[in-house]
Amino acid sequence: MCGIVGIVGQQPVSERLVDALKRLEYRGYDSAGIATITEGTLHRRRAEGKLVNLERRLKEEPLGGTIGIAHTRWATHGPPTERNAHPHFTDGVAVVHNGIIENFAELKDELAATGAEFQTDTDTEVLAHLLARHRREGMRRGEAVHAMLKSVRGAYALAILFEDDPSTIIAARNGPPLAIGHGDGEMFLGSDAIALAPFTNEITYLIDGDWAVVGRTGADIFDYDGHPVARPRQTSVAVATLANKGSHRHFMEKEILEQPEVIADALGHYINFIENGAEAVFGIDFAKIPSLAISACGTAYLAGLIGKYWFERYARLPVEIDVASEFRYREIPLSPQSAALFISQSGETADTLASLRYCKQLGLKIGAVVNARESTIAREADVVFPILAGPEIGVASTKAFTCQLAALAALAIHAAKARGTVTEDEVQALVESLAEMPRLMRQVLDSIQPEIELLSRELSKCHHVLYLGRGTNFPLAMEGALKLKEISYIHAEGYAAGELKHGPIALIDENMPVIVIAPHDRFFDKTLSNMQEVAARGGRIILITDGKGAAASKLDTMHTIVLPATDEIIAPMIFSLPIQLLAYHTALFMGTDLDQPRNLAKSVTVE
Ligand code: AGP
Repeated sequence: MCGIVGIVGQQPVSERLVDALKRLEYRGYDSAGIATITEGTLHRRRAEGKLVNLERRLKEEPLGGTIGIAHTRWATHGPPTERNAHPHFTDGVAVVHNGIIENFAELKDELAATGAEFQTDTDTEVLAHLLARHRREGMRRGEAVHAMLKSVRGAYALAILFEDDPSTIIAARNGPPLAIGHGDGEMFLGSDAIALAPFTNEITYLIDGDWAVVGRTGADIFDYDGHPVARPRQTSVAVATLANKGSHRHFMEKEILEQPEVIADALGHYINFIENGAEAVFGIDFAKIPSLAISACGTAYLAGLIGKYWFERYARLPVEIDVASEFRYREIPLSPQSAALFISQSGETADTLASLRYCKQLGLKIGAVVNARESTIAREADVVFPILAGPEIGVASTKAFTCQLAALAALAIHAAKARGTVTEDEVQALVESLAEMPRLMRQVLDSIQPEIELLSRELSKCHHVLYLGRGTNFPLAMEGALKLKEISYIHAEGYAAGELKHGPIALIDENMPVIVIAPHDRFFDKTLSNMQEVAARGGRIILITDGKGAAASKLDTMHTIVLPATDEIIAPMIFSLPIQLLAYHTALFMGTDLDQPRNLAKSVTVE
């Protein structure tokens, strides 16, 4: 998703603006630009591709000025060219935008009918023209912005410069996040606190409908109707030091390999709560709620799907779950006595946030299972369940996924204890299993990489891969497919093993490897039958199992990855490791931009 930064400073700003954009690179982008006001004139530099190209432009043609805005663009309207890169200019107005203006086409037609000439294919340029027109009509800057906001529909985080006012940046937010940073004699704007961390950790988050006039000594904030409002100023915990890869080739590799450590942090946060946990600690009275709703997107949704199995099996709690883009529109008849969990690494995913707001207006108790504790989803929830994974920079979610699972497992055990559906001994046994995870993860990560690399070389030659699993290994099969497709661009599907005969078996041939996730659990024999059906049709099987499963399978597989014996409750976290590494090493062979795969963003803040 796009990233926005702005500085109203005392010193030249262009270098600091680009440095702040680098802290937003993890969001995914395909072009970038910057605008400053120098000697009363707006100037800009833009470049296609990575920030290094913008830096090269600025070296060739430096930009002065102590006030500026900058942007990394993830293309929504119009190809990722320099022409479409932000900031967009017209008649002394410069705009950078994150989001989608839904009625931009009709606005563009109206403006064109009155002589406006457009230089780009973007929705954002329409905003610049609207502002310029309102200024020509005699409106003051704030009035022009307020009038423009009233005429657009859609999602936006905006930073606006008016050439005739080098002392303020005007900001606005409806959907994608936008934060104001408080400095000493200078002020900042950023899509998140991470971007602003080197400048300040004193942050004010705008809420939907807000717009603000940001000067060097402070900001005046207004609500959608133009009334002055006060928003809380808080101290951010975002760290100034950029997460770095260390000796790793990619952030994704680092984040896969550090899972034993971060899982230990996540477990440490939850296990003692389970042992002494009171409802007050967890904030949701699981003993009283009739059901639980869960909604999320992508990998976070798949973590929720695994959580559903646990809440229903251990706590006997019915779970209604759906991907957020469907959940938000299904008008699900949920009881206000129920609770809802929203899972999101970034805490900014637009569809997940919309689903949260749907449940909130129904009166449900809202829980947020998030990594970014200052995010919009965290702020709008009644109770936050942090996953403590640390910054996850790779677009493909890995450590956040297993930490989400650890948090959900702890919540499910706590819920079972609160609802009296498990004995104390059973709780103890489950907690002891969770506590085994860091050791087992380290054991797996230290042993399976060589065979994974050999397998990945084979996978990198394929065009289609099928993943199969049963029980909690079914969502894991879908996660394996998602990991592979999003970073290697190889088509992959995850299926319930029991569904093989209902269609996918028609695909089986020697060209499509079938990756079967099957610890020797209560489903193993049934999954073994599925594997025999695949083998009987010349399919090539990669079996991921444990010692007992390997001994029982007796199949002539392409390869069998043998993991340590693991209790059922932690199998999804342990079996995540080979599927993450398979995707990583396959993408390595494919030579893709692993940490920032094409077309993908780390945080999808638009619908
Ligand atoms: C996962 O590898 C993907 N990057 C993507 O599916 C992601 O999980 C999804 O966009 C949800 O993001 P969130 O957890 O920040 O809400």
